[in-house]
Amino acid sequence: MVLHFILLLITTYFLGLSRSQLQVGFYDTTCPNAEAIVAGVVRDAAASDPNTAPVLLRLHFHDCFVEGCEGSILIDNGLETDERRAFGHQGVGGFEIIERAKSQLEAECPGTVSCADIVALAARDAVVVAKGPFYDVETGRRDGVVSNITLADGMPDVGESVLSLKDKFFQKGLNEKDLVLLSAAHTIGTAACFFMGQRLYTFPAEGGSDPSINPVLLPELKSTCPQNGDVNARLPIDRGSAETFDAQILQNIRSGFAVLQSDASLYQDEATRSVVDSYFVPFGPSFEADFGSSMVRMGRIGALTGTQGTIRRTCAAAFK
Ligand code: HEM
Ligand SMILES: *[C@@H]1O[C@H](CO)[C@@H](O)[C@H](O)[C@H]1NC(C)=O
Repeated sequence: MVLHFILLLITTYFLGLSRSQLQVGFYDTTCPNAEAIVAGVVRDAAASDPNTAPVLLRLHFHDCFVEGCEGSILIDNGLETDERRAFGHQGVGGFEIIERAKSQLEAECPGTVSCADIVALAARDAVVVAKGPFYDVETGRRDGVVSNITLADGMPDVGESVLSLKDKFFQKGLNEKDLVLLSAAHTIGTAACFFMGQRLYTFPAEGGSDPSINPVLLPELKSTCPQNGDVNARLPIDRGSAETFDAQILQNIRSGFAVLQSDASLYQDEATRSVVDSYFVPFGPSFEADFGSSMVRMGRIGALTGTQGTIRRTCAAAFK
């Protein structure tokens, strides 16, 4: 009798523990259709808008790098000081897709699935839509309530040195390998000319362009993004393969065809260069598998679990 009671205590304790950690299938009993619902919403959105996959993949990164993966980027208090309006989040979107998934989840299992988890799942489903690898996403994140534009000041910037990029990733518990693999998310999507000005026209001084740009690529970039032209014009980040998730981005980085300066810089640092090169060694590591592992690692940054944070009912509303 006493023994039973103790066993019961121990089991409840460990069950409790396991509910307070990120784990694959966190909603298996509380909301069994959660992952299917998110995947369906992402697939539907992608069918009508080709920008869906890149925008959702990027959203997870921008969520995780400010206050951790806790959905603060989704909060819209209608204030100039909202985190989502930060300069470093320029071009980030997909909020309405996350909100659509959230409202379906609230109808099916109210107050159960966090916005932060929806963002993490949607990023994976976006990769799958773009023909990339399926990887298991850990869930069990809870939502933050603080949205503060100042906290986004440290977002990695396209014009930053590779040393500084490495440092920012180290600070989040990520390493050089993660930096390369996660930057390879640029295998899909587009960038605004806004982010190209420095690399094309003032590198390092007025009139100069980044010498690491392949001479075949330079005139292409300049023709889409002329000096003093439309900063909102967009160009594919992964030249030749912007719709498909594949290792072409790494090949482009090796051969001077990287479009973003931050990607190009990965080939100028010994540690990151050797990570890039490792994917071109016969019988070497799998880019797809390693990408999935790095996404899982990114998804752990500053995650709130257990009794921390909250489950928001509307992803844009901190306290509703
Ligand atoms: C290493 C630091 C990084 C820098 C400096 C950087 C910078 C940028 C810039 C400047 C753009 C263009 C945005 C626009 O014009 O709308 C962009 C797009 C994108 N980024 Fe990154 N990024 C970084 C890391 C990441 C990571 C870690 C991910 C995801 C794992 C990611 C995913 C994407 C995607 C998918 C796009 C395309 C978005 C679209 O087509 O709307 N980036 N990034
Ligand atoms: C935002 O964060 C900064 C830096 O941590 C802090 O100084 C500031 O008081 C915060 N603002 C608000 C409104 O909480």
